[in-house]
Amino acid sequence: MGFKRKNKLATKLGVLFLTSIMLLEGILFVVLYFGFLNERVMVETDALIARGNSHRDVLEKHFDRSTREHVALMESEAETQVVITDTRNNVLSHSNEMTSEIENTIESVNSTVVDGGIIEGDWGKAPFISSISPVKIKGEQVGYVYMFLDTSGIRDVRDRLTSQFLIVMGLALFLTIITIIYLSRIITKPLIHMKEATQKMSSGEHDVSLKENRNDELGELARAIQRLSNDLLRLKNERSDFLASISHELRTPLTYLSGYAEIAKRENLSPEDRSRYLTIIKEESQNLTNLVKDLFDMAKMDQKGFSIERENIKLCPLIDEVREKVKPAFENKGLSLYTNCENDITISVDSDRFSQVLLNLLDNALHYSGAGKTVRIEAVQIENEVKIDVIDEGEGIPEQDLPYIFDRLYRVDKSRSRKYGGSGLGLAIAKDIIEKHHGTISAKSRVGKGTTVQIVIPGVE
Ligand SMILES: Nc1ncnc2c1ncn2[C@@H]1O[C@H](COP(=O)(O)OP(=O)(O)OP(=O)(O)O)[C@@H](O)[C@H]1O
Ligand SMILES: [Mg+2]
Repeated sequence: MGFKRKNKLATKLGVLFLTSIMLLEGILFVVLYFGFLNERVMVETDALIARGNSHRDVLEKHFDRSTREHVALMESEAETQVVITDTRNNVLSHSNEMTSEIENTIESVNSTVVDGGIIEGDWGKAPFISSISPVKIKGEQVGYVYMFLDTSGIRDVRDRLTSQFLIVMGLALFLTIITIIYLSRIITKPLIHMKEATQKMSSGEHDVSLKENRNDELGELARAIQRLSNDLLRLKNERSDFLASISHELRTPLTYLSGYAEIAKRENLSPEDRSRYLTIIKEESQNLTNLVKDLFDMAKMDQKGFSIERENIKLCPLIDEVREKVKPAFENKGLSLYTNCENDITISVDSDRFSQVLLNLLDNALHYSGAGKTVRIEAVQIENEVKIDVIDEGEGIPEQDLPYIFDRLYRVDKSRSRKYGGSGLGLAIAKDIIEKHHGTISAKSRVGKGTTVQIVIPGVE
């Protein structure tokens, strides 16, 4: 397990960080090392040659003992050293102690071919940089001026540079480790938590909690996952509630059916009673058929592939059509039905589905209004919106029930609604259909005064 596998992202970022620092540092080092250091060596070398040449110039005027001693004495106070030899490389004067290295250098020079300049320039290895200036009097070679510069100063600078470079490298490495730890805390850990949460969710555990109150993208992601988990939980609960209600809805009429069938079977029953019970049985089975049909409709609508087939139609003729359908039932109950439709409203809907919505609303108005009341359908277009109101003067819906009437299987007064076979699906289906048309449906009601259900859908220009 562990650090490496779990912190892939942090490690990758850390290595990237380290690489860029190293690269930057490397470039800096190369520039300093070769640029600055070589520059310094060049300046020192030039100065050495110039110094040797100026000694030579003095000596070309007087190549006598006292001048040579004078030159050597002057040089003994400087960082550089001078050695003056004759043409056979015998040392005549020198400023400082003669070391074996200096002697070796002098001996190694083939004095007959040299004509001045650097004889040892490798400051990295040799203890000295050295130069030679031949002394000529009237065209004749009389001796040589050797100049020596100790290279330890330059090497010191180089060593300091290298050690500082190494310190910075170490520091970068340390910073990288800190960065990796920090990144793993702020990036990898929350990611792992989220991964674990989604794994839990897919294995059916929906009450995950991600305590993430950060403001960045990771916080947003955590909150999105949290929302998803909450939604899943809600859907799961809704589904099991719904299944429980459905099974209840199916069981109740079935109990009636078997109860009444039992009674109808009795032998000593009068023909009138028997026919009454059989009628009830017929009605109940009709209700059951309706319920199953509604459930089937709803299941179809839940399917992803369910699509509505829209076409541009005139609203008023559609309302008239629906009205003709329900007219007998309204007349039967002694209810008046009026429509008030602004001419020329065009809507883009699936006309079968849309009629079903209107039928469901009128069905409610019919069932929840007493005889002698009035029901009105009013349709208007305001700018881009078409509003259709179904207004009744019926019993109304209590305020506390109003928010739930569009829920599946919700009924305000179960016994009363059941009496006529209502199952609490009519408005839920209506809402599904209207939302598929990108519209909204809402209800206002006052108990004892009546109910208004309003549909708002986009109109067609
Ligand atoms: N116009 C209305 N007046 C009074 N109450 C209403 C009205 N419309 C709906 N309700 C209440 O809202 C509940 C839900 O209505 P919905 O149409 O969804 O179901 P239902 O009429 O009971 O059954 P279904 O329509 O499936 O046959 C009803 O049971 C009723 O209590
Ligand atoms: Mg209804």
